[in-house]
Amino acid sequence: MAHQLGIGLLGLGNVGGGVAHLLIEGRDRLIERRGLQLEVRRAAVRDLSRPRRVELPPGVLTTDPGAVVDDPDVQIVAEQMGGIEPARTLLLRALRNGKDVVTANKAVIAACGDELFQVAAQQGVDLMFEASVCGGIPIIRSLTEGLVANRIQSLYGILNGTTNYILTRMTEEGGTFEEMLGQAQAKGFAEPDPTFDIDGTDAAQKLVILARIAFGSAVRLEQVFREGIDRIGSQDIAFARELGYTIKLLAVAKLTQDSRLEVRVHPAMIQAQALLASIRNEFNAVEVVGDAVGTQVFYGRGAGQLPTASAVVSDIVDVASRRSGGGRRAENDWTREERLPVVPVEEVVTSYYFRFVVLDQPGVLAQITQILATEQISIESVIQHGRSEDTVPLIIMTHEAPERAMRRAVARIDRLSMVREPTLVIRVERP
Ligand code: HSE
Repeated sequence: MAHQLGIGLLGLGNVGGGVAHLLIEGRDRLIERRGLQLEVRRAAVRDLSRPRRVELPPGVLTTDPGAVVDDPDVQIVAEQMGGIEPARTLLLRALRNGKDVVTANKAVIAACGDELFQVAAQQGVDLMFEASVCGGIPIIRSLTEGLVANRIQSLYGILNGTTNYILTRMTEEGGTFEEMLGQAQAKGFAEPDPTFDIDGTDAAQKLVILARIAFGSAVRLEQVFREGIDRIGSQDIAFARELGYTIKLLAVAKLTQDSRLEVRVHPAMIQAQALLASIRNEFNAVEVVGDAVGTQVFYGRGAGQLPTASAVVSDIVDVASRRSGGGRRAENDWTREERLPVVPVEEVVTSYYFRFVVLDQPGVLAQITQILATEQISIESVIQHGRSEDTVPLIIMTHEAPERAMRRAVARIDRLSMVREPTLVIRVERP
């Protein structure tokens, strides 16, 4: 006899519609494989009349999300509305009503995770968030369960599908930033406000969650150094290729030798033969180094309707199995607290790619290299192609130097009269 459980959905749009589809289409499989009969009993939507991919029985749809979280026939609430409010208030209400909660919402987990987990613990219910990071890739479970024996040393991620899509298409077809953003939006993996994709906020929210799980450390979004991809031009992509690199929006969380944590999201040059350089289009990947296991790479679709819904349904099945078998609440690493201090970005050490836009005159290179020398920044290579009556891009790759020295040098260089545009800096990483 299958155990029957009522599911309430907050949001039935792109991801919510996918969850309903997988629960309904996969009904018999879940009964057969897990002995669970999962019924969508309530679903909150904005517009009752909108046509939908899935047919739900009459009376299931409501425009009142409170009716979902208060429904006594709902045992598990799955939220895929996104954003902090009203999601936070609704999730707290669901937890206080004794329901298990599954969420795909990285914004609410990154910002309000402490409060939500505290209430879940008080109520003895589960709060699961696999779909909040990297869509269909089971990265939370892998870190929490598969790698539990490890002290994680570093985590490098391509966590945002939209920016990876844009950078890949710019690299492979030479399209413009705007055209490629439009394509990412049409494919349904951009955020409602794509600024959050482009400026690194989406990846930083995911990194806050991963850092918490991987390193047990509470990092606030404001502590993650963030830089977006909006200044990367097709010429940088071409220079990167010439130098043997690929440009990616990279999320980095790294334990330092003095037990502090680097957390940052920014465009990075990575060597073209590195595994992460081969992650194309909207795909995501996370490279984790654990002290026992060594390097592992998790790869897959990090956004989109069914990949994200796949992670939501796996959480629903997990909590449903526990509920029906009377098992223990899920182990989660959210409440483990190691309080690693975050390294101020000025202290971070990387190599750099500089694109100076300069007048093509004798002595320009000498002045720039003089400033780099006074800041102890050593040069690895220099490129200047062609001649011009006007400005030319001058590319310098450096050896490793602290961010503070790099910033001082760039501020001084940008004041030189022959430097005609703010210098573009891309950090070089060796995952
Ligand atoms: N907008 C996100 C991305 C998907 O482009 O990866 C949801 O996290």
